[in-house]
Amino acid sequence: MKECDVAIIGGGPGGYVAAIRAAQLGMQVICIEKSSNLGGTCLNVGCIPSKTLLYATEHLTPDFHFDQMMSRKQEVIGGLAGGISALFRKHKIEHLQGLGRLIESHLIEVNGQKVKASHIILATGSEPIALPFLPFDGKTVLSSTDALSLEAPPKKLLLVGAGVVGLELGSVYLRLGTEVRVVEFLDHICPTLDSDLSKALQKSLEKQGFVFQLSSKIIAKEGSVVKIENAQGKIEEQEAEVMLVCIGRKPYSEGLGLEAVGIQKDRRGYVQIDSNFRTAVPHIYAIGDLVDGPMLAHKASEEGVAVAELIAGKRPHINYMAIPTVIYTHPEVAGVGFTEAQAKEAGLKVKCGKFPFKANSRARCKGEEEGLVKVVTDAQTDKIVGVHIMNERAGDLIQSGVIAIEKETTARELGAMSHPHPTYAEAIKEAALAVHGEQIHF
Ligand code: FAD
Ligand code: NAI
Repeated sequence: MKECDVAIIGGGPGGYVAAIRAAQLGMQVICIEKSSNLGGTCLNVGCIPSKTLLYATEHLTPDFHFDQMMSRKQEVIGGLAGGISALFRKHKIEHLQGLGRLIESHLIEVNGQKVKASHIILATGSEPIALPFLPFDGKTVLSSTDALSLEAPPKKLLLVGAGVVGLELGSVYLRLGTEVRVVEFLDHICPTLDSDLSKALQKSLEKQGFVFQLSSKIIAKEGSVVKIENAQGKIEEQEAEVMLVCIGRKPYSEGLGLEAVGIQKDRRGYVQIDSNFRTAVPHIYAIGDLVDGPMLAHKASEEGVAVAELIAGKRPHINYMAIPTVIYTHPEVAGVGFTEAQAKEAGLKVKCGKFPFKANSRARCKGEEEGLVKVVTDAQTDKIVGVHIMNERAGDLIQSGVIAIEKETTARELGAMSHPHPTYAEAIKEAALAVHGEQIHF
């Protein structure tokens, strides 16, 4: 039997980061991961492969080869996975490859072997949701994982769900000449976005060639014909050789043995925890996609660090209001904090400032004039409660918004800070000034 201070089940951005932080704090750590690669969904079938394909297709050159793009993607994954293994060696963390199953409150079984741990962290992540009447088959009904490893771009692709996966992977194939049609249940794309940004992104993607069929859902598929029902109950048939179903993800805890130790899940399958990530068994914790909250790699990692510090007796704090999200389309769309609608729902008296990139000199130099910055404030205190950006570099720019929210900055304070010229960042300053109608260039 192996023994350790902390055993972690799952080696994704939640689990492997928790392992490193726990080792830094002097604990002996075993990370049980079923795959030979560490890095989880994010590194193997999520963030990293999708971004590699997005960058590869952004500026296509005449010598572009689909196969080369796919092998480069595997090289990037392999390189980064090797990096995590090296970090494990550096911190003397054991990667025990196999399926981990709880058998007693301090005991995990892996490949018939037992691991005894004082503390256990569950970080088994999530998996794609299939349509109830249409299982994934990897050929005509694809999950995001399948869509990251196709042998050739399909002629036509029907996306089900205009969320983050659909818009990112849809962008990859659209750029490669695939006809992309999106069937979305709601009357707008990307439900988590501020509505101004959602509308601006839809317009931009439609210009690129996306066709959106909103307020609609797929109700059946027979052969290559799908039946689509709109909000008025009208049913139409469409040819759809290949479908990519991206209607969200669900927590993954199959075979984990939660029942054996009395750990509860909620009705959506999330493991229930308290504010210190503790399950019903106090020395068993859960983090990342397995628990409620945004399904994001950096959220999982923040929780990984926090839980390791809690076990070490520290008092970490995560500000969930200041966790940014980024959609890596072109242009990118990023947001942090409340959307305007959420701020109103929270009972705030809201005042917003907006600034369009067409009035930003850097954007004009580069010919990247689409998009805007929107700053949402609490009118009573002038504090910034949300920042939303659409721009080719929105994912990097949003960090100003994260700092503003974390440090409870006011719009006047952000508007008074110096921003270098000519940069996209100046649009953030201008949007902050616009909260009081004091913007200079628009
Ligand atoms: P996971 O990364 O899912 O890791 C869980 C690990 O546990 C897996 O490696 C699995 O093999 C292992 N495991 C499960 N059960 C067991 C068991 N019983 N025993 C042993 N091992 C087990 N997020 C972002 O922030 N930015 C992005 O750009 C982004 N892009 C994405 C693109 C796509 C296509 C997808 C699908 C997701 C994307 N995400 C992105 C989301 C991100 O990947 C997840 O939020 C993140 O990986 C969650 O981390 P985790 O550690 O909780 O779980
Ligand atoms: P999502 O939750 O982002 O979007 C799902 C979309 O499908 C929504 O617009 C929803 O209204 C729609 N939908 C749901 N059921 C439907 C139905 N039956 N018919 C038609 N439309 C339907 O989920 P997605 O895109 O699958 O991504 C899963 C998660 O993975 C994301 O929420 C995110 O947490 C993570 N992710 C993050 C990325 C990033 O940070 N850049 C990139 C990709 C994924």
